[in-house]
Amino acid sequence: MSKRTDNNNFAGKIGAILATAGSAVGLGNVWRFPTETGANGGAAFLLIYIGFMLLLATPIMIAELTIGRHGQRDVLYAFRKMNGSKGNWAFMGYLPVVAGILVLSYYAVVAGWTLEYAFRAGVNDFAGKTQEEFSNDFSQFISDPLRPLTWIFLILAMTFGIVALGIQKGIESGAKIMMPALFIFLAILVVCSLTLPDASIGLTFLLKPDFSKVTQHTILSAMGQSFFTLSVGICCLCTYACYFRKDVDLFKDGLNVAVIDTVVAVMSGLIIFPAVYSVPGLSPDAGPSLVFITLPNVFQRVFAGMPVLAYIFSLLFYLLLVMAALTSSISMLEMSSSYFHKEKNMSRAKSALIMTAICMTLAIACSFSFGIWKDYTVFHLGFFDLFDFIIAKIFMPIGGLLICIYLGWSVKGDVVYNEVTNNRTITQPLYPLFMFIIRYFAPICILMIFISELGLIDF
Ligand code: PFF
Repeated sequence: MSKRTDNNNFAGKIGAILATAGSAVGLGNVWRFPTETGANGGAAFLLIYIGFMLLLATPIMIAELTIGRHGQRDVLYAFRKMNGSKGNWAFMGYLPVVAGILVLSYYAVVAGWTLEYAFRAGVNDFAGKTQEEFSNDFSQFISDPLRPLTWIFLILAMTFGIVALGIQKGIESGAKIMMPALFIFLAILVVCSLTLPDASIGLTFLLKPDFSKVTQHTILSAMGQSFFTLSVGICCLCTYACYFRKDVDLFKDGLNVAVIDTVVAVMSGLIIFPAVYSVPGLSPDAGPSLVFITLPNVFQRVFAGMPVLAYIFSLLFYLLLVMAALTSSISMLEMSSSYFHKEKNMSRAKSALIMTAICMTLAIACSFSFGIWKDYTVFHLGFFDLFDFIIAKIFMPIGGLLICIYLGWSVKGDVVYNEVTNNRTITQPLYPLFMFIIRYFAPICILMIFISELGLIDF
């Protein structure tokens, strides 16, 4: 059996891009991005975020792709191989295992909510409800000890099913269907949203910056969001890149994914903010509930005389969220289970099953933190918020920093150059800029922002 058809690698370049974009595009774009943008004043946040995407997250993503593609097996092996086992970098191989479990455990909770809302939209449960009813419904639902667990279980079961099918049959085929569908759904929703009354106020919020709203916290949030949305820093894309063919152009792939991801985030903003402003009394800083309380209400109010449109609009939106969540959750499960599969010779299905069971257990704790375990906190954070904090504000920046130090300082320059130029068969005009960012700019930037956030220095 040839290496490219054995279901252990992505078969094609398009499949590799779509799977990587599938990991990147997710609830981070459609749920977390509008929440963060709304909470941090709109356009100014968007600009800072785009700056981080260009100068930090995308170069680190390309670094991850370079390490993984060079390894061709799994992250642990890749880190050992690329610098000839110099120094002890093996711990980076365990990062995706731990981070994958943590991130999937709380991501699956929100992914579960999206399934519940897709179901509610499907059975026309939103019809005729008021803002207050939506708000009560949501708080009752997320604090219910049992109902969210059913959906979390379903999401994890689907995620497991796709990962167990393997790289080509599961991950690549899934991404090939879900990513284009997602894009089409989004485009339809943007057009609908922009034709709503007062849509221009939402547009101004998203596109006209007001820098007086920018604080030190805005900067860390923008950095955290840029890492989260591109799945960088915890070796998720490094895991996927292990399955890339040797002829994939890593720079082109990385830049394409960054552009797709940013376009999807901006499109989500173009759906959500005009919609929010089209109903008097709603606010763009409603936080995480924006997507679950504000939006269903918006769909009902805006299409008040056209129940069929309200139905279609809501159903499309939540189905889109479910798909976006799935293409990302499969990358999380893959990153944590590939270690056992590749390093410990466990079957793909068995390692994915064990990881899924661990995630389900932790997800229960995360889900309970909205209800019966509300009062159990660590550093004043419930389990869900604690996991999000650990991933987006600690693991991702520190992981990103370590990846830069590894590729920029520990791996020989010509090994990196040969990998990104596919053994000098393609030119990469941006290479010197990339290396400058990886060696100097990114590490210093991450360190400064990180230290300032810990309150050690006030810039
Ligand atoms: N990038 C994904 C999103 O925007 O929803 C989330 C994500 C996927 C984070 C994979 C981390 C990860 F390893």
